[in-house]
Amino acid sequence: MAKKRALITGITGQDGSYLAEYLLEQGYDVIGMIRRSSTVNFERIHHIQDKVTLVAGDLLDEVSMIHLLREHRPSEVYNLAAQSFVQTSFSQPVFTGEVTGLGVTRILDAVRVVDPGIRFYQASSSEMFGKVQAVPQTETTPFYPRSPYGVAKLYGHWITVNYRESYDMYACSGILFNHESPRRGLEFVTRKITNAVARIKLGKDKELRLGNLDAKRDWGYAKDYVRAMHLMLQQDTADDYVVSTGETYSVRRFCEIAFGHVGLNYQDYVVIDERFYRPAEVDLLVGDPAKAATKLGWKPEVSFEQLVTMMVDSDLQANK
Ligand code: NAP
Ligand code: GDD
Repeated sequence: MAKKRALITGITGQDGSYLAEYLLEQGYDVIGMIRRSSTVNFERIHHIQDKVTLVAGDLLDEVSMIHLLREHRPSEVYNLAAQSFVQTSFSQPVFTGEVTGLGVTRILDAVRVVDPGIRFYQASSSEMFGKVQAVPQTETTPFYPRSPYGVAKLYGHWITVNYRESYDMYACSGILFNHESPRRGLEFVTRKITNAVARIKLGKDKELRLGNLDAKRDWGYAKDYVRAMHLMLQQDTADDYVVSTGETYSVRRFCEIAFGHVGLNYQDYVVIDERFYRPAEVDLLVGDPAKAATKLGWKPEVSFEQLVTMMVDSDLQANK
C-alpha cells in the first residue's frame, strides 16, 4: 500500500513537532510547511529534520500553498500554524486576524482548488468559548470569544464548517483546550512558571512576575492531544470535537505544584505585575471530552500533576 502523506503547517511549533513525530511513527511521509525567517527556528524538530520534508510557504500567501499542495499531493492537511499567543493578539489584532483567521480560508481554498478530496484538520481553540456560556463546555456550547485571537479562531472554525458543508470536503475542527509540554513557548504561563521555578531553584533568578493567578484552565499534555488530531481525520465522516481532560485548575494551583516540586513556596517568589493582565480575561475553561472518548476512542494519558512535574524537571535539566 502507498504510504500516507500529510502536510503540517506550523511544524516548528509545539504541536507541529509532536504531530510530526507521531505521524512518522504511523508510517506517514511528513511534509512540513515553514515560513521564511532570517534565523533558523528548528529547535523543536532538529531531531527529526532528516525524516521530514520541509517546504516554504506562508498562511498569508495562498499561491505558495497551492504550489506546495500541487507538488507534494498530501492526503491529509493539518493546519496548526497561527499567531497563537492571546496577549499579542490585543496589540496586533489585525495581523492576528490575517494569520489566525483569514489564513484558514487561504489554506482551505488552496485545498479546494488543488484537490477537495484532501482531508483537512483545523486547530480550533477553547479560547472561542471565552466568557463561558455553560460549564463544562461541549461541541454545542455557544461561543463568546474574549480576545482578537479568540475571534480569529472562531472565524477559522466557521469557515472550516462552511467549506465542509458548501463543497462536501472532509474538514474537521478540533476544539482543543490548553495543552502544554516541555516544548511549550516560554511566553505561555505554564512554561513561564516551570522555567522560572528551575532558574530560581538553581539560583539564576529571584522572582517570577505574573498576572491573574485566579484564571482557571483545563490543561492537558500536547503529546496526548496530537493523537486526537490524527484520529479525527481517520473517521467515516468529518465532524468537530472538543479535546480536553475534563479537569480545571487555577494558575495559582499550577504555581503551588511547580514550586512545591522543588521544595519551594510560590508565595515567596511570585510578584503580581499589572503588565500581564489582559484587557478582557477568560476566567474559566473546562471541557467535556465525552464525544472524543465515545466516537474517537481518545483519552488523555498524562495527569495534571504529572504534566507540571515533567515540565519542571525538563526545565531544571535545560537550565543546568
Ligand atoms: P505555536 O507553538 O505558537 O506554533 C505556531 C506555529 O505556527 C509555528 O510553527 C509558527 O512558525 C507557525 N506560523 C505562525 N504564523 C505563520 C504563518 N503566517 N505562516 C506559516 N506558519 C506560521 O502553537 P502551538 O501551541 O503548537 O499550537 C498549534 C495550533 O493549535 C495553533 O493554531 C494554536 O492557535 C492552536 N491551539 C493551541 C492550543 C494549545 O494549548 N497549545 C490550544 C488550542 C488551539 P514559526 O516557528 O516560524 O513562528
Ligand atoms: N501568558 C501569561 N503570562 N499568562 C498569564 C500570566 C503571565 O504572566 N499570568 C497569568 N496568566 C494567565 C492568563 O491571563 C490566562 O488566563 C492564563 O494564565 C493562561 O494564559 P496562556 O498560558 O497565555 O494561555 P491562554 O489560555 O491565553 O491561551 C492558550 O490556550 C488557548 C486554548 O484555550 C494558547 O495556547 C492559545 O493558542 C490556545 O488557543
